[in-house]
Amino acid sequence: MSYKNDFDTAIEELCETFRFLSQTGCRGFNCSKESLKIMECWGHKQARSLETLEAIRIDLGECRRCRLSESRKNIVFGAGDPHARLVFVGEGPGYDEDQKGEPFIGAAGRLLTKIIEAIKYTREQVYICNIIKCRPPGNRNPLPDEIEVCLPFLKRQLAAIKPDVICALGAFAAQALLETTMPISKLKGHFHDYNGIRVLPTYHPAYLLRNPGKKRDVWEDMKKLMKALDT
Ligand code: URA
Repeated sequence: MSYKNDFDTAIEELCETFRFLSQTGCRGFNCSKESLKIMECWGHKQARSLETLEAIRIDLGECRRCRLSESRKNIVFGAGDPHARLVFVGEGPGYDEDQKGEPFIGAAGRLLTKIIEAIKYTREQVYICNIIKCRPPGNRNPLPDEIEVCLPFLKRQLAAIKPDVICALGAFAAQALLETTMPISKLKGHFHDYNGIRVLPTYHPAYLLRNPGKKRDVWEDMKKLMKALDT
């Protein structure tokens, strides 16, 4: 092969890797030692399988991509087993989560822990994360542009974890993942597809705290979740 052909092939492979990364939401790199080390191990067509949660966290950095960075205390990236079969996706961090940088550790989190234990898992055996990684001031709803800029990181996390099932907690998580505006009352309790992964939306634990009568509905959904994980 001529020198020129080698060069052309290398450029083509580089472009292919960058195209893949841009599809997964990557919008640039820093040139820190850590990032360069990660990039060094990217081979042709291997980017998808080699991306790790650590690499995604490094790429997220001290994120300033949206206004939520101005008021947050900590980025809440996600926690749990990086190879979990089951991932819970919530809306966004609240006060307690922002203080500690950990997802679902406040009142809604304690209820989520009970739900996880009721289906015979522990928090350490699943992965827990959110649509957005920084707390909206006063716990307001996330805005569309905040979701848009943050969602690619969640998508990369899901591509790295490759779970069997995703449980979307509440309307924001379900609608963002499934790219729909259908209400949670219609989406919940049914399996949907996200890039070949089954997604089961259910009510958000914070909603259950306000509407305890809906816990029965969530339990019905959790039974479906357990069955899906059995198969
Ligand atoms: N509610 C969420 O949606 N996520 C958290 O991490 C905490 C509360």
